Amino acid sequence: MTVDQLPMVVPAQDLPARVRIHEVGARDGLQNEKSTVPTEVKAEFIRRLADAGLTTIEATSFVHPKWVPQLADAEELFPQVSDLQVALPVLVPNQRGLDRALALGARRIAVFASATESFAKANLNRSLDESLAVFDPVVRGAKDKGVHVRGYVSMCFGDPWEGAVPIHQVVRVCKALVDMGCDELSLGDTIGVATPGHVLELLSVLNEEGVPTNVVGVHFHDTYGQALANTYAALEHGVTTIDASAGGLGGCPYAKSATGNLATEDLVWMLQGLGIETGVDLGRLTETSVWMAERLGRPSPSRTVRALSHKDQ
Ligand code: HMG
Ligand code: MG
Repeated sequence: MTVDQLPMVVPAQDLPARVRIHEVGARDGLQNEKSTVPTEVKAEFIRRLADAGLTTIEATSFVHPKWVPQLADAEELFPQVSDLQVALPVLVPNQRGLDRALALGARRIAVFASATESFAKANLNRSLDESLAVFDPVVRGAKDKGVHVRGYVSMCFGDPWEGAVPIHQVVRVCKALVDMGCDELSLGDTIGVATPGHVLELLSVLNEEGVPTNVVGVHFHDTYGQALANTYAALEHGVTTIDASAGGLGGCPYAKSATGNLATEDLVWMLQGLGIETGVDLGRLTETSVWMAERLGRPSPSRTVRALSHKDQ
């Protein structure tokens, strides 16, 4: 698709020159889909995302297949895309998951912790501290093999069972993951309740507590339409790793009210307008999301995908 409508480039002061988009469409985007997406379609989706210029594409999860049936084909899928010259992180919840990922040659993994007890229980069937104890040898074992480790922290801004989440609770989990050896963190707004001031406050407290901004990524869901505003706040703070999902697909099966992630196209549109480099071709990416939406049988929720693809008709 040739995109004839692009934002005018007007840089804002003191923002990063370049951002790395951590694309989660194939994992976070699909994990909640009710009907099974064929493995070949997932592989094609990942190939198209790489072709659109995305350099970090979360491919799948080595979790218990009963917990996330949509990703039960991780063993079939991963070898179909592992030749791609892009980073392909995969989620692992425990040693079993790490063993499965390493057996296929994965070089990047992500463990996923929670800032709240309720979500640790719902998502991992463990208390918060039990889940950290499970991650500790997993992270250390991965690092020993030179594998890059991302540590997600879910429910950083609010939790559907517990409501507001105190910042010190989030910081404790972030520090525990950094101490284990995680190379980067991703601050998850799992249910999309964050607002920009809250984002800035958490990032500042993390810095005060010794967690530098260069190890922090942000992961916004767009439930309340705040994902781009929150992203802008994170950029102002100096964050250069932004998670997003092609076409705005997504949700978490273990968190009621988790809707789609920040759409990668909406993010790229804003970053292009700000003159921030991403390496992503917006036309190819939009084409990919339109193609995926056809496979899923419903239009993409991304405003940018809708605007650009309507212009094409
Ligand atoms: P459990 O039932 O407590 O597991 O589940 P267990 O340790 O008691 O083991 C029970 C059985 O499962 C055993 O088999 C294990 O071998 C097997 P048995 O001996 O009975 O035959 N098993 C496994 N099999 C395959 N792969 C594995 C595995 N582990 C154990 N990895 C468990 C605990 C962690 C496994 C389960 O809770 C789980 O898989 N949870 C995953 C949930 C999930 O994937 N959620 C979505 C991702 S998180 C997210 O979306 C948020 C994020 O986007 C950020 C944000 O938005 O906030 C990242
Ligand atoms: Mg998520």
